[in-house]
Amino acid sequence: MKTVNVDLGKRSYPIHIGSGILDRSDLFQAHVRGSQVVVITNDTVSELYGERLVETINSVARTHIHTLPDGEKYKNLNAVSQIFDRLLSIPCDRRTTLVALGGGVIGDITGFAAACYLRGIPYIHVPTTLLAQVDSSIGGKTGVNHPLGKNMIGAIHQPLCVISDTRVLGTLPQRELRAGLAEVIKYGFIRDLKFFEWLENSHQSLLACDPASLSYAVEQSSRNKAEVVHEDEYESGIRAILNFGHTFGHAIEAFSRYEDYLHGEAVAIGMSMAAEFSRRLQQLSKAQAEQSIQLIKNCALPIDPPASMTPEDFHQFMSRDKKVDSGRIRFITLHQIGQAKITSSYSPEILRETIEHCIPWCSEVRAK
Ligand SMILES: NC(=O)c1ccc[n+]([C@@H]2O[C@H](COP(=O)([O-])OP(=O)(O)OC[C@H]3O[C@@H](n4cnc5c(N)ncnc54)[C@H](O)[C@@H]3O)[C@@H](O)[C@H]2O)c1
Repeated sequence: MKTVNVDLGKRSYPIHIGSGILDRSDLFQAHVRGSQVVVITNDTVSELYGERLVETINSVARTHIHTLPDGEKYKNLNAVSQIFDRLLSIPCDRRTTLVALGGGVIGDITGFAAACYLRGIPYIHVPTTLLAQVDSSIGGKTGVNHPLGKNMIGAIHQPLCVISDTRVLGTLPQRELRAGLAEVIKYGFIRDLKFFEWLENSHQSLLACDPASLSYAVEQSSRNKAEVVHEDEYESGIRAILNFGHTFGHAIEAFSRYEDYLHGEAVAIGMSMAAEFSRRLQQLSKAQAEQSIQLIKNCALPIDPPASMTPEDFHQFMSRDKKVDSGRIRFITLHQIGQAKITSSYSPEILRETIEHCIPWCSEVRAK
């Protein structure tokens, strides 16, 4: 087992990474507070791992399980309210620990319920998707969607620990695994050249779900995220580089009503657009832009925006993004592979040309 620490003073916590560690009650023993635990999960993950986890934690504290329906569409205040109903009826006091067993959706809901219940109770993440292990379970961002916007209601509430069992990734659908890989390679692009080079050589074993490669990828990604969160817990500066590819990606997700693309797939397209934008801004060399896009393709991820999306659609959806700063859309761009920067001053013409270049039918029209 490997452990990565998230260093946040009094709110510091470990991320334990290893195969089969879901069964290690000693890990829960070290972190559970109080005499009651409530595991929050969804029906898909509960079926696979619910009983096993309850058995593991039962030797440490009296453990209940609360199962929500599976899906992003249930990541709302109604789910949180249902959790409160359950906690109050058990009843649970301030020294109850919640455990999030699932992907990013369950993690975000559980963390937010923990942030609000009795003005804040402790919780532990047991992430079961690649995306949740390398990204959403680390850093304390919690929240739910509102009908008028994704992740609009939330809080920063750090967990007591993260327990990432890489063996559970074996049951993840391939498409979900690939979507998680998008967030893995993001760390190579934005701050870790050595990891980028390792990914160039290891993408096939990752796609084949090789346990050693997956463990290494989860560990290096967790380390990168932990370091960024340590530097800037509340995203007042450098943490924004984690949004590389996300401004274009969020526009694609919103345009397709969150139906056609998984988050990681939209981010993959967004990262290839951001690499092209960096090249056109003359920050990134042509060779490195091509090398970046090649890695995205090698991970079997998409690079082209939807054929029906126009440059105007991009502009409209990007202007509504949370990352808009006083009317100016901020982008994360690359100086070189392994080094990102926040860019809010750029020529709108270059942005437009980038988008036109990336939309296949636009570039065909321009070429004629
Ligand atoms: N808090 C943050 O910092 C942060 C960062 C990135 C994304 N997010 C959020 O994360 C969410 C996306 O998370 P996700 O990609 O994990 O999606 P998800 O939670 O919907 O999980 C994807 C699917 O995989 C299933 N699943 C989970 N683990 C499984 C396993 N081991 N075997 C088989 N099936 C399994 C789930 O039931 C679901 O159907 C979004 O809501 C996004 O906003 C949050």
